[in-house]
Amino acid sequence: MNIIMLGAPGAGKGTIATRLEEKYHLPHVSTGDLFRENIKNNTALGQEAKSYIDKGQLVPDSVTINMLLDRISKDDCRNGFILDGFPRNLAQADGLKNALSEKSQKIDLAILMNAADEDIIKRLSGRRVCEGCGAPYHIETLKPKVDGVCDKCGGKLIQRKDDTEEVIKERLKVYHEQTQVLIDYYDKEGILITKNGFDPIDKTLTELEKVIVK
Ligand code: AP5
Ligand code: MG
Repeated sequence: MNIIMLGAPGAGKGTIATRLEEKYHLPHVSTGDLFRENIKNNTALGQEAKSYIDKGQLVPDSVTINMLLDRISKDDCRNGFILDGFPRNLAQADGLKNALSEKSQKIDLAILMNAADEDIIKRLSGRRVCEGCGAPYHIETLKPKVDGVCDKCGGKLIQRKDDTEEVIKERLKVYHEQTQVLIDYYDKEGILITKNGFDPIDKTLTELEKVIVK
């Protein structure tokens, strides 16, 4: 099954995708994580992406679409994948659709995580992420078992550079201007399901069981 996680920055896309990956053994493919990995390794792609990410703007489609299509052509994605943070505009959505249709595939489900901007701004100041695997935590609502250490891989928990109030506001603006239109795009295809990004995680996962085919 090919799944997309839609929603504003901080709405909970990565949190739910991480849990779906564990539960359904589908690879969690986050374009944000792919960029951060390239930044950490100081690749040319990482250097280019950093200049946009630090400002809260989208990395150009010319870089992003190829990176994503290359990732989902890998063997571990042959039985499906969970995309998190891609697509983020109409050009990316069309690029994905065309590439999948060439392989007689399609997106089966788009999960929209809903959250209000003012709640997101409050929430993101408390987010911590694993430096190693990118798994998200929260200092109040989603603590790791051992303080500062990732439950999944033992990596160190850090704060993301783009989680400052100024950059969060820019990311929200970009979301409303360029990404929100995709809600309608996938609704018209009849594959959109909406979940509350502030509901308990286990409640959302139980509800999703009804629509995710193993
Ligand atoms: P990306 O990494 O995708 O960031 P984002 O879209 O801004 O989304 P976030 O990761 O901030 O939020 P999330 O929805 O995953 O929330 P989370 O689950 O962590 O992109 C970063 C940048 O890369 C972009 O700004 C752009 O520059 C670039 N980029 C990426 N993709 C691109 C693309 N396709 N095209 C162009 N540029 C691209 O949750 C947030 C917090 O809340 C956490 O602390 C979590 O623990 C907590 N939480 C979540 N849900 C719950 C819950 N139900 N209960 C309690 N706590 C919860
Ligand atoms: Mg995320």
